[in-house]
Amino acid sequence: MADSKPDIIDEGSLPAHVAIVMDGNGRWAKLKGLPRVIGHQAGMKALERTIDNAKDLGIRYLSVYAFSTENWKRARSEVQGLMGLFRYYLKGKIQRMHQKGARVRFVGQMDVFQDDILNMVRFAEDLTRSNSVIDVVFCVNYGGRQEILDAVSSLIRSNHDGPVTEEALRKHIYAPDIPDPDLLIRTGGELRISNFWLWEGAYSEYYFSDVFWPDFDRAELERALLSYAGRNRRYGFA
Ligand code: IPE
Ligand code: IPE
Ligand code: MG
Repeated sequence: MADSKPDIIDEGSLPAHVAIVMDGNGRWAKLKGLPRVIGHQAGMKALERTIDNAKDLGIRYLSVYAFSTENWKRARSEVQGLMGLFRYYLKGKIQRMHQKGARVRFVGQMDVFQDDILNMVRFAEDLTRSNSVIDVVFCVNYGGRQEILDAVSSLIRSNHDGPVTEEALRKHIYAPDIPDPDLLIRTGGELRISNFWLWEGAYSEYYFSDVFWPDFDRAELERALLSYAGRNRRYGFA
């Protein structure tokens, strides 16, 4: 499918794992004089579109920051709106993702969600477990600091013997089998990481976009990929 790739990007310079902080839904809505939850609805469409685009471009892993451990601080009505969208997504969109060969999983502190949500999450993960076209990781009630605390707790519970190495701790992060993000995109114009992939993002390449998430499209994704393709990752080497 070489013709679906942006001109200058060859297989070798495509990131295996693209992570996205999907930010700017609220401001997108405000600009149009609409309630914030309409922005989140439009954001969900942008997410569906982006999963398709990532798959077509040959991205193997896509992770998206959908709800942070800090987002509970928002107005009750907004949090309820987001939970409603989460349910709607789980009910209506999983089969289609399955048909496209996507493996879906959800990472974060999941035990706070209501049982009907947890059942749908388990169903989606089981249904898509053997798919291998693209892995889509939804970070919900996710916090990077919380993930590190959970990993440390899990390591202690495992009666780990010997020194606590990076390798030992890595076995206890939320998705140890997924490679660290190569390219981490944040939309919405803010230049911060807001507690996303703190451990995994240590050597990610960052791309900050002014586009509000609901407007994120194939062209903007390709701009991020082109920027990534031109970078020299050194990992501390000279
Ligand atoms: C990101 O958009 C979506 C979530 C955090 C759930 P925001 O809701 O943060 O949008 P802005 O940043 O207020 O525009
Ligand atoms: C980060 O965006 C969280 C998600 C996109 C889910 P926020 O809008 O919550 O981040 P801050 O508050 O601007 O740092
Ligand atoms: Mg925001």
